[in-house]
Amino acid sequence: MAAVAEQQTTDEVSLYDADTDDFYQDVDLLQNHGINMADIKKLKSAGICTIRGLQMITKKKLCAIKGLSEAKVEKIKEGLMKISGSGGGFCTALQASVKRKQVFRVSTGSQELNKLLGGGLESMSITEAFGEFRTGKTQLSHTLCVTTQLAGENGYTGGKVIYIDTENTFRPDRLRPIADRYNLDQEAVLDNVLYTRAYTSDQQIELLDLVCAKLHEELGIFKLLIVDSIMALFRVDYSGRGELADRQQQLAQMLSKLQKISEEYNIAVFVTNQMTADPGASMSFQADPKKPIGGHILAHASTTRLSLRKGRGENRIAKIYDSPDLPENEATFSITGAGVDDAKD
Ligand code: GTP
Ligand code: MG
Repeated sequence: MAAVAEQQTTDEVSLYDADTDDFYQDVDLLQNHGINMADIKKLKSAGICTIRGLQMITKKKLCAIKGLSEAKVEKIKEGLMKISGSGGGFCTALQASVKRKQVFRVSTGSQELNKLLGGGLESMSITEAFGEFRTGKTQLSHTLCVTTQLAGENGYTGGKVIYIDTENTFRPDRLRPIADRYNLDQEAVLDNVLYTRAYTSDQQIELLDLVCAKLHEELGIFKLLIVDSIMALFRVDYSGRGELADRQQQLAQMLSKLQKISEEYNIAVFVTNQMTADPGASMSFQADPKKPIGGHILAHASTTRLSLRKGRGENRIAKIYDSPDLPENEATFSITGAGVDDAKD
C-alpha cells in the first residue's frame, strides 16, 4: 500500500513538473483554437501575453479592450478552456507545494533583514516597506537593484530589475559602489536595470502593461519590479475625502495588476510607501500614532509589510507589520555608501 502511495506521489510530481515547463504558455497558442493573430496582438497590447495572464482577466475587462467584441471574447474564453484543460484550476496541495518550489528570494544586502524576511524578498508576492522620510526605503530599493543580480540559494540564478520611480529619487550612480561591494562589473549592473519615471497615477497604472510586454519579451530574465513609491502620485492626483473612493478604486486596479504580474512571471514586487498621522490614534494609547497610507486596499494587497524607523546614526530598524507566515520580529540594518548592510554594532 505504501509503495502504491509512493508511486502515485512521484507520478503526480513528475506530471506537474512537466506542466511547469509551460509556466509561460504564450497567448499565441490561441491560434490553434481559431483566434486570429490580429486579436492576439490586441490582447498583448493590453499586457496580456501569457495563458496564465489571460486566466486572471475578467470577461468584462476583455470586452473593454479596443476591437474585441463580446463574440470574440467568448471565443477566446473557449480557446482558453481548451488550452488550460477542464481541471478548473484545481491542483492538490502537493502540486501546489511543488509550484511553490519555484519561489525564490532576493537578498536585501543585510543578513539580519533577510532573516527577518524569512530569507529575503519573496517572489510571486508583493513586499511593501513603509516608514517616514529618510528611513531607507529608496536606499533599500537601490540595493535591491544590485542584489537581485546575484545568484542565491536554491538555484536562484539572479536576474534583471525594472524600476518605476514616482518621486525622481533614483540615482543610477548610487548602484556603482553597491556593485563594487559585490565585485560586479558596474556597467553590466546598470545595464540590467530598466528604469522608468511615472508622473501621474494613470501613467503609473498604464506602465504596468509595458512592464508585462518587457517581462514577456525576455521571459524568465527579470526577477524584481520596484515601485518607489506606490502612493505618492495617488496622493497628489486625488485630494480630499470626495475623491477617496475613486482613488482607492484606481489603487485597487494597480495593485491587482501588480499581484497578477508577480504570479504570472514569477517575480518579486517591492513597493515603498509613506506614512501619515492617524487621526483616530490620538484617542487611543498607541505608541506610534502614524500609519501607512493606502488603507485596507494596500494592506490586503501586500503579502508582507515591513515598517521602517530610524535607529542610532545610520542604523534603521525594520519590523514585520503583517505577513501570512512570518512572526512580528524586528531587525536592525544600516545604510552605508555601498547600500543596505548589517548594522555594525
Ligand atoms: P523618503 O523617500 O523621503 O520618504 O525617504 P526614504 O525612506 O526613501 O529615505 P532614503 O532611502 O532616501 O534614505 C535616506 C537616508 O540614507 C538618509 O539618512 C541619508 O543620509 C542616507 N544615505 C543616502 N546615501 C547615503 C550614503 O551614500 N551613505 C550613507 N552612509 N548614507 C546614505
Ligand atoms: Mg524615498
